[in-house]
Amino acid sequence: MTSLPKSLEETPLPFSSDEDTRPLLKNRDKYRSAPPTVMVIFGASGDLTARKLVPALYNLSLDGLLPDHFFMIGYGRKPLEDEAFRAFLREAVQKFSRQKLDTTKWEQLAERIFYQAGAYDDAQAYGALAKRINAIEAELACKVQTLFYIATPPNVFQDVLEHLGDGGLSARHSGTDLDSKVIIEKPFGRDLASAQALNCTIARRFAEQQVYRIDHYLGKETVQDLLVQRFANSIFEPIWHREQVECVQITVAEDIGVGGRGGYYDQSGALRDMIQNHTMQLLALVAMEPPISLHPEAIRDEKVKLLLAVQPLKLEPGSGDAVRARYVEGQVQGRKVPGYLQEEGIPKESATETYAALRLSINNWRWEGVPFYLRSGKRLASRVSEIAVRFKRPPGVLFSEGDRSAVANNTMVMRIQPDEGLTLSLNSKVPGLGTHTQPVNLHFRYAATFGSNTPEAYERLILDAMIGDGTLFIRGDETEASWKLITPILDHWQTFGAEGLETYPAGSWGPTAADHLLAQNRHAWRKPDLHLG
Ligand code: BG6
Repeated sequence: MTSLPKSLEETPLPFSSDEDTRPLLKNRDKYRSAPPTVMVIFGASGDLTARKLVPALYNLSLDGLLPDHFFMIGYGRKPLEDEAFRAFLREAVQKFSRQKLDTTKWEQLAERIFYQAGAYDDAQAYGALAKRINAIEAELACKVQTLFYIATPPNVFQDVLEHLGDGGLSARHSGTDLDSKVIIEKPFGRDLASAQALNCTIARRFAEQQVYRIDHYLGKETVQDLLVQRFANSIFEPIWHREQVECVQITVAEDIGVGGRGGYYDQSGALRDMIQNHTMQLLALVAMEPPISLHPEAIRDEKVKLLLAVQPLKLEPGSGDAVRARYVEGQVQGRKVPGYLQEEGIPKESATETYAALRLSINNWRWEGVPFYLRSGKRLASRVSEIAVRFKRPPGVLFSEGDRSAVANNTMVMRIQPDEGLTLSLNSKVPGLGTHTQPVNLHFRYAATFGSNTPEAYERLILDAMIGDGTLFIRGDETEASWKLITPILDHWQTFGAEGLETYPAGSWGPTAADHLLAQNRHAWRKPDLHLG
């Protein structure tokens, strides 16, 4: 074990005082209550660690939000010395951190970072890991909690969970405030059966309150704001139901392609990669009933109830509730890009979808008869995530042209990213003679009101897990409820292979079949880029 630097006791991690512009700092006392922590990242030399996890830890340390006694052990298959691992991470921080690399402050964090090489199914390596954690405790002369972060490829999730359990690591300081915790990355299973199997493995080794299934969308400020907008304002809830709402559209669009992730993506597709998790979470938050409190279980209970009320989809070709497609070559933001089948690592016979759109019905008192449209895709016209609630038109008795109502539907758009904020469209009189109406937008923009120094989702989520707050994580039954809905679609698509797989040009808003899905109800997708005010 590399011994700890002598100076650690005297050098608490750096502290910032810039509270006004940094949302997490406003809750500093809550987060500073995290106990001494050793965080172990499995998949330490992987992409997620470099792009998201370590930059998040660095930003937290800059903001003074890590516990004074904080250590990180990277666990991976590659043989690496501590110093080489730190150099790899330093480069990652330089490239991907929200705040600029400050060498002195990085060094203060880096001296608390170690590396443990080992295969994911090697019991001895887990033994060595346990020794390292014990050695940290011995040198600090105090007990620490262990936060395991499983950021490996999903095919070794089971191995890691089993070894954490069988090697006793999951039970460190069990029954005390220093109980171990485990964060599990997505994808959580490939379908209902594999998600259930994973939940069983977990349940044999961990209590549910030790488990944090991550969906990084829940860590986004604007996603958290959804509950505040809905339940901290009295004007929305009275109109948030089938009497007033005509339809809801949830869009999670990306302009990027699959990049270097072809191997993973081709096994996954848009439905597994984005819809089953991120988009369904947005759906649950926008449509659920008010929870009885902000307690994590109260919120998760409501999300599960909502997901269980979504009706199984009709899947007949042509008139079904689901559309899938993949991009062919086209232009994104003026740049020519290849089609999906030409991307690196994609087999020529691939039938994987890069776009999926669903029409959902929610069979409960509030939403009966209101269609919820979900779509997500890669290589679309722009990167936009938003929820648009379209309200019913007012009666046309006063403002109409011939037999056509001259007023537009009011729409409330909650923009998750980019350009985070909220827009409400209203009808207004055009100045001048006559009574012509025109839709106008009321805007609230996060950046204009709160500044743009928003923490990354992973910062918030890692901190929450450290203090044992599971509100922004997914419970076992929640993930199963979502898979229950998605799995029959996957099975159906698998049966038909490439038959029924539509195409769309890269840089467009998706296939025409997705337009037909809405046209059947006389609706149309929003073109989010045209509606930015
Ligand atoms: C991940 C998906 O969960 O979310 C990626 O695996 C996707 O394919 C990413 O690109 C999108 O996240 P964000 O935060 O950039 O919207």
